[in-house]
Amino acid sequence: MKAFRRIRKAIFPVAGLGTRFLPATKALPKEMLPVVDKPVIQYIVEEALAAGLTDIVFITGRGKEAIENHFDVSLELERILEERQELEKLQVVRDTSHMVHVAYVRQKVPQGLGHAVLCAAPFVDDDEPFAVFLGDDLIMADVPAIQPLIAWSQEVQAPVIGVQSVSQAEVSAYGVIDGVPVHAGVYRVRRLVEKPPTEAAPSRLAIIGRYVLHPDIFSYIEATPPDARGEIQLTDALQVWVQDDRPLYAIEIQGRRYDTGSKLGFLQANIELGLQHPDVGPALQAYLRTLLRRIQPE
Ligand code: G1P
Repeated sequence: MKAFRRIRKAIFPVAGLGTRFLPATKALPKEMLPVVDKPVIQYIVEEALAAGLTDIVFITGRGKEAIENHFDVSLELERILEERQELEKLQVVRDTSHMVHVAYVRQKVPQGLGHAVLCAAPFVDDDEPFAVFLGDDLIMADVPAIQPLIAWSQEVQAPVIGVQSVSQAEVSAYGVIDGVPVHAGVYRVRRLVEKPPTEAAPSRLAIIGRYVLHPDIFSYIEATPPDARGEIQLTDALQVWVQDDRPLYAIEIQGRRYDTGSKLGFLQANIELGLQHPDVGPALQAYLRTLLRRIQPE
């Protein structure tokens, strides 16, 4: 494997259908559902930018045009806001469209996360490591969640995945790792299993939606057979990588994670980020207190 040069690219697989959120996601990409006043995807793009990544590649699919429009210039909207002299709103709209240097690739058939990542191969040089962000995992932390993964990948010149400890009951919903601790919160990965039955899970360290990968992974993904559901799993490709004695590390990501692709996670994100929002925080807090008294009288 060649040296781990500086990372600039962030890959966002966003072709998923969002069936956990129907009917809301029938005509609207799940990534565009708002948390308070911003679509989920914008929080995650902002995380990538805050970590110094400059080039965004969205792996998109049919029906996801709203994401492209969101990060594009909207001349008509700008003109109307300008005419009305709504300058703050105008700035917000302009900031969003100038936020990223972006490319879009269509994943024509939804064949799993591994396949989605492989769609980015033409955009990545063969010695250029890259980050992957999954659009459901919104992580609020003091430093951008991806940042420690990038730093460690540079230090050890190897790929790194983000993990968090989940409850025993939840492990079967995630990729799970078996790792040897090398530092507090850092593991050398020995084995990975995608969505194991609870009793077969090697640990409770679940892969969450942040990865720093090396382009050598593409040939591993190409060689990965589809699983029982016809999906090519990134976890399976990484497992063969590890079997080949290639280094792979996992870092426990600090911070509060919301699975915004689930109804409960989405509501929690809206409530908690709403409480922190200067416009609505105090009023929302007062409302929640009243509501709790109403539904839980002392
Ligand atoms: C994907 C990955 C899985 C990971 C999860 C994190 O699964 O395949 O390994 O744990 O994201 O959100 P998905 O949730 O897309 O089924």
